Amino acid sequence: MPDIVKKVDNFLRFLKMNGNMEKHGTNSDNKTMPIHRWFSFMPGFSNVFVDTTFAYFDINENGGQVYDPFMGSGTTAVVGRKYGITVVGNESNKFLYEIGKAKIKFIEKPELLIKAGEVLLQKCKSIWKKADISQENFILTKCFSACNLKKLITLRDVYYSNSIKKAYKPYIFLVISSLLPRCAKVGISIPYISWKNTRNAEDPFVIFTKALSDIKDDLLEATESGCNGDAKIYLFDSRKKNSRILSNSINLVFTSPPYLNNFDYGEALKVYTYFWKITKDWSEITSKIRMKSLASATTYYSEREYRGKDLKDILEKKMLEKAPRVSQKIQNKIKLIRKQINCKRGKSFDILTGLYFKDMFLVLNETYRVLKKNGLAFIVIGDSAPYGIYVPTDKYLGELAIELGFSKHRLITLRPRGHKWTTLKNRHNLKLRESLLVLIK
Ligand SMILES: C[S@@+](CC[C@H](N)C(=O)[O-])C[C@H]1O[C@@H](n2cnc3c(N)ncnc32)[C@H](O)[C@@H]1O
Repeated sequence: MPDIVKKVDNFLRFLKMNGNMEKHGTNSDNKTMPIHRWFSFMPGFSNVFVDTTFAYFDINENGGQVYDPFMGSGTTAVVGRKYGITVVGNESNKFLYEIGKAKIKFIEKPELLIKAGEVLLQKCKSIWKKADISQENFILTKCFSACNLKKLITLRDVYYSNSIKKAYKPYIFLVISSLLPRCAKVGISIPYISWKNTRNAEDPFVIFTKALSDIKDDLLEATESGCNGDAKIYLFDSRKKNSRILSNSINLVFTSPPYLNNFDYGEALKVYTYFWKITKDWSEITSKIRMKSLASATTYYSEREYRGKDLKDILEKKMLEKAPRVSQKIQNKIKLIRKQINCKRGKSFDILTGLYFKDMFLVLNETYRVLKKNGLAFIVIGDSAPYGIYVPTDKYLGELAIELGFSKHRLITLRPRGHKWTTLKNRHNLKLRESLLVLIK
């Protein structure tokens, strides 16, 4: 057995023996860790897991490079910086892209950030009462009291004016974003706005300085411990070829793509994209965010375009040619889902399933292109059961990768999942899991 396969098997044994596997695919470790704590992103994975993997595989030796096609809040890149590893990656959601960019930035004198923040705050305090919220998106006016919304948009508008030094802007963007859930009068945390969850909103001006001070402290600590990795995040759709990432240049991929569960990142982050005027309405959420996301992360596709079409038209033609065995299995599952839809007149999860695998085929192709020989891809992924039809997404993606040319794959379960929803009426009672899929080129 080649050494790299043995090493992967030993690593998976090591993970099982060390416990805590159920935390690896979640963001619970990130809430208290320097830099990771700046913005809590529920779909993120554990920085400790990324850290453990990088350390085990000595990625920083010989200038190793890491790629994350679904950067989200930037967990992989932040860990890479700590180890002096070059990390490159894509994120298609402009809001998250800005968050990730702030987390991988370093400045010479972090203390000066506090001074810049104080100047900004003083300015805002003197003008916020005149702020006009009548032009803000309706959702914002429902989530925040008029007073807090005025303060928040004043912070935002001063951010957008040219009065802040360019070097500080990413941090100011991040700090203001992190205030939103704390200053809202309802729960706006991902995955959706919980209108019934009314809460005591904090005052943006009161918590602004403390949030900025946490950033300064973490930056000072990072500078002292000599974090010197280089990271680059592209605002880019990972289904496409990113020619700035060279073929055969990457030692390790660490990522977590959206799961096949119809979790819509455009919807989940709409308060943020409305607030920052990245999107002005639902149609812009669709054109600017949902259309650039993997199909499972949205149902933006036109049902009319696919309804009644042959399964082969939903799956990518190249995928049918290159991966005929797994394509057949996917088609069989889609047929079963279609039967359920016909009985229940439900959502088009058949189309969603087909488009998901088509998209992941493109992502895996690109992953294969950029990886060096013997390079590894670590993919945190969940399985799925649309309308009670079990789809072993993790297993199919492993098989798809092998048909694409990867030499080996391994799959282990990290944790059971989905049990929170078992009380829902009409929900299936199948057991779901979150897995780690490892691919070896
Ligand atoms: C599970 S999250 C990744 C979380 C990340 N590991 C972290 O710790 O923050 C998946 C991410 O993929 C992004 N995404 C969805 N479709 C994409 C695409 N086609 N290209 C690039 N990013 C995409 C989503 O916006 C989301 O941020």
